[in-house]
Amino acid sequence: MDKLIITGGVRLDGEIRISGAKNSALPILAATLLGDSPITICNLPHLHDITTMIELFGRMGIEPIIDEKLSVEVDARAIKTLVAPYELVKTMRASILVLGPMVARFGEAEVALPGGCAIGSRPVDLHIRGLEAMGAKIDVEAGYIKAKAPEGGLVGANFHFDMVSVTGTENIMMAAALANGRSVLTNAAREPEVVDLANCLIAMGAKIEGAGTDTITIDGVKRLGGATFSVMPDRIETGTYLVAAAATGGRVKVKDTDPSTLGAVLEKLEEAGAVVTCGPDWIELDMQGKRPKAVSLVTAPYPEFPTDMQAQFIALNAIADGVGTIVETVFENRFMHVHEMLRMGAQIQVEGNTATVTGAERLVGAPVMATDLRASASLVIAALVAEGDTLIDRIYHIDRGYECIEEKLQLLGAKIRRVPG
Ligand code: UD1
Repeated sequence: MDKLIITGGVRLDGEIRISGAKNSALPILAATLLGDSPITICNLPHLHDITTMIELFGRMGIEPIIDEKLSVEVDARAIKTLVAPYELVKTMRASILVLGPMVARFGEAEVALPGGCAIGSRPVDLHIRGLEAMGAKIDVEAGYIKAKAPEGGLVGANFHFDMVSVTGTENIMMAAALANGRSVLTNAAREPEVVDLANCLIAMGAKIEGAGTDTITIDGVKRLGGATFSVMPDRIETGTYLVAAAATGGRVKVKDTDPSTLGAVLEKLEEAGAVVTCGPDWIELDMQGKRPKAVSLVTAPYPEFPTDMQAQFIALNAIADGVGTIVETVFENRFMHVHEMLRMGAQIQVEGNTATVTGAERLVGAPVMATDLRASASLVIAALVAEGDTLIDRIYHIDRGYECIEEKLQLLGAKIRRVPG
């Protein structure tokens, strides 16, 4: 298993480009299953999760054509099996995103249950109930979700999400795009990735209104296909590099990004003392050599502060001036990074879903272990500010969501290298 060695203490300074958004690329790839002619997706990030989704397509008999810039052309007509096997689903929860499209387009699907994962129990009941509302018959048997559309296909329905679910909204929106009649989804997720997926579906011929609000109306169409679509920039990757620069007292210009998707994050960075300047597709953050001020925040669905940026802000608070309180309301058990940061000298107390972070003057490098994707990013940030060397183990978690992380950080002056394990 590869490891990262980071020698901390360098003030980051420089410019980097942001990759396509993982959390948009995955549902958009799943949406290509709805097409009855080839669909080309561009700006895909070069990440393990994307490779897993492409491998999943391969298992189903679809051989996506990939060019050197990682544009992918998918022709779902080649599909042979309607099964997403456990070996792949267990490595990537987002595989559940193929369920809705497969039932809508091919009338049936078998997708392994993702099961528990490192950040809480994360059920998929809303995905199942949404499809049932459209007339699908679903049995959960031997660890698989087995779904069948009624004769004549799925039927449009009104469906209310008891909890805001990003991939739940995406799954049901994709299924509804090919259902008979109108579907109205209420308490839908408003995340920019939901909007990106809706725009891709619209480019494929879908009739969708309201994406980006909590009510999405979908009028099912008979066929979808024949489009080229470019994935939006990754707002979480963007935020992670901004926090890394802020924590080190440095400066960064991130390009090919979308500042409009980062409101709550930029607000907190300014509160921490950063000078933030934005253009149409770039953000510059300058900490002017200052130590950040501690910030308090509460995670919640978009447009509130994203749970996927929580761990990075704990790292920022760990060396900030003052005490910050971080409340996690989206996932249970999402503070695993805290235990690792304590080993680096951070002062953090966790009680229930609240972490109280008292900024330390210094962190000290230590061997630590990545436990999930965003937790790993927070350990990288802590390592960048710590004195001495930090060895981060299990970085396959990072490779699931950050393209070329060591190259990008090196461009900003960081001392970081990967060592094969
Ligand atoms: C997506 C993102 C993930 C992000 C999360 C919250 C992708 C591929 N992943 O995950 O990076 O952290 O949104 O912004 O886009 N829930 C249920 N029943 C369900 C579904 C969800 O109870 O059927 C609960 C979950 O346990 C959680 C909450 O709803 O507590 C939100 O989860 P959800 O938005 O579904 O997360 P994901 O879509 O899996």
